[in-house]
Amino acid sequence: MSTSSINVKPRILRTHLALYVKDPEASARWYEDVLDMEVTAREPRWVFMSFGKKHHDIALIKADPAVLRAMQIGEINMQHYGLEIDGDLDELRRLYGMLLAKNVPVVKTTDHKVGYGLYFTDPDGHRFEFFLETVHDDEEGKRVLGQYNAPSDPFDLQPL
Ligand SMILES: [Fe+2]
Repeated sequence: MSTSSINVKPRILRTHLALYVKDPEASARWYEDVLDMEVTAREPRWVFMSFGKKHHDIALIKADPAVLRAMQIGEINMQHYGLEIDGDLDELRRLYGMLLAKNVPVVKTTDHKVGYGLYFTDPDGHRFEFFLETVHDDEEGKRVLGQYNAPSDPFDLQPL
């Protein structure tokens, strides 16, 4: 990590929202019906929804009982907020270095097949994700996300 890490600024492109829900399939039907969204990937723990262009705009993630209890007392209302960054893998590595330089808690780094995710938390524990797209064609991105059921595999990202 270089001494200039603390000066790295994120350049955000598009965003996505991930929400904890009681029943992802039931919620997906509501998002299809009310918001005219389409399902682009599903597995028992989550359903990914699109407004039609991007591979996902909103992810509906099943809340386990502990999360449900916390939601009922108002402690948790969001799983994470994804921020698509401009740049390449080195830029994601520089942002990782910046987070470490500022003592921001980093939760995990993941391979999503359509890109790489770097998760961190704000001072209240809200989780954010810097997301580097590796599939730049939206139709191909939807296909890949659905084919792999929106994977979240560990990825050994090295900070710069
Ligand atoms: Fe995400």
